[in-house]
Amino acid sequence: MSDARYADFDWDVARSRARGTKRWSVYGPDVLDLTVAEMDLPIAPPIATALADAVRRETVGYPVPAPLSGLPEIAAEWLSGTHGLAAEAGEIRLLPELMRGITHSIRLFTPAGSPVVVPTPTYRSFFGAVELADRAAVEVPMLREDDGYRLDLDAIDAELGRGARTVLLCHPANPVGRVFTPRELTELAELVERHGARVISDEIHAPLRYGTPFTPYAAVGGTARNHSVTLFSATKAWNIPGLRCGFLALTNPADHAKWAKLPGAATGGISPLGMLGSAAAFGHGADWLRQALRFLSGNRALLGELFTAAGLPELYTAPEATYLAWLDLRALGVADPAAVVLEKTGVATTPGPDHGRGGDGFVRLNFATAPDVLEDAVTRIAKLVATGRA
Ligand SMILES: Cc1ncc(COP(=O)(O)O)c(C=O)c1O
Repeated sequence: MSDARYADFDWDVARSRARGTKRWSVYGPDVLDLTVAEMDLPIAPPIATALADAVRRETVGYPVPAPLSGLPEIAAEWLSGTHGLAAEAGEIRLLPELMRGITHSIRLFTPAGSPVVVPTPTYRSFFGAVELADRAAVEVPMLREDDGYRLDLDAIDAELGRGARTVLLCHPANPVGRVFTPRELTELAELVERHGARVISDEIHAPLRYGTPFTPYAAVGGTARNHSVTLFSATKAWNIPGLRCGFLALTNPADHAKWAKLPGAATGGISPLGMLGSAAAFGHGADWLRQALRFLSGNRALLGELFTAAGLPELYTAPEATYLAWLDLRALGVADPAAVVLEKTGVATTPGPDHGRGGDGFVRLNFATAPDVLEDAVTRIAKLVATGRA
């Protein structure tokens, strides 16, 4: 079964290991490392061709200035079409990585000293990005209900009432896999506007969905477009994070002059290969992405089958987006089960508590790998939980 599901791609984990990236380099051969959010899939042929051509031409000098590159036009077209947020090339800014976009946006667009609301559990690097902006992060745990997580709008309202002026949204949400609904986002937009606050929406995972419709935060209507900035990138969905190129859409025209004042050192470091790889992804990567989503969708279902077969279906809820599973290991009775799981089973997962409040008792598991690796990992974890409970 697992081989058939991997057969669409001419690939195996040995080739991922041979890449020599962080993905399979941190632990020895006996550990199944399911931490780093990188996929065990070959990159899209149009990206591989663009990169090979760039190396042949030695396009490894300083990158051409963004306005001369044609990339803002390509990114704006993808954003307006596939992603669903109407934007002009003149609203797109380039960055080497998205976390810098968060730090600069907090500093430039929100009042000095005002705290930043972070709905949790969330992408753990958000906390560092807020800290680099010299701001306090106010963690507001999402509400965990039978059908998944949702934003605690009352608690966010209360924190904005106490002086916070930014909401840092991960939409779709890493690690919990939620795609927020237009209704939820509209309600958020209304209260953010009422408090004169801003939203920074990191939408890097949006292409990695399993049928759930997606509305970009800035597209929910009303004033959302004016009080938000949107981060997006080809690096996550097309598996090219090492190429260093990300994007910011500044949909409030008043933000443009503030962004222009940033020194070059604040936004520099974009790689010319990243620019070419992103252009190939946005312009010609749709077929590969469809194929990758078929593969990921198979793994997403497989996890459900495996946990159900092990008699532990409550450990796993299939995510609406991302290739990350947020496993509920509270049955083990420890705040940080990742350490126990690694020690007792040799499966490395990302610790739940790293993702902020609401993360205790959980781990994050990357399922963008070979199905037999997942089968092995789930068998080991299920055995541990079953024993721990006995
Ligand atoms: C929500 C989110 N934003 C950003 C990133 C990383 O983006 P970059 O490497 O461009 O900073 C990740 C990586 O997993 C992520 O999950």
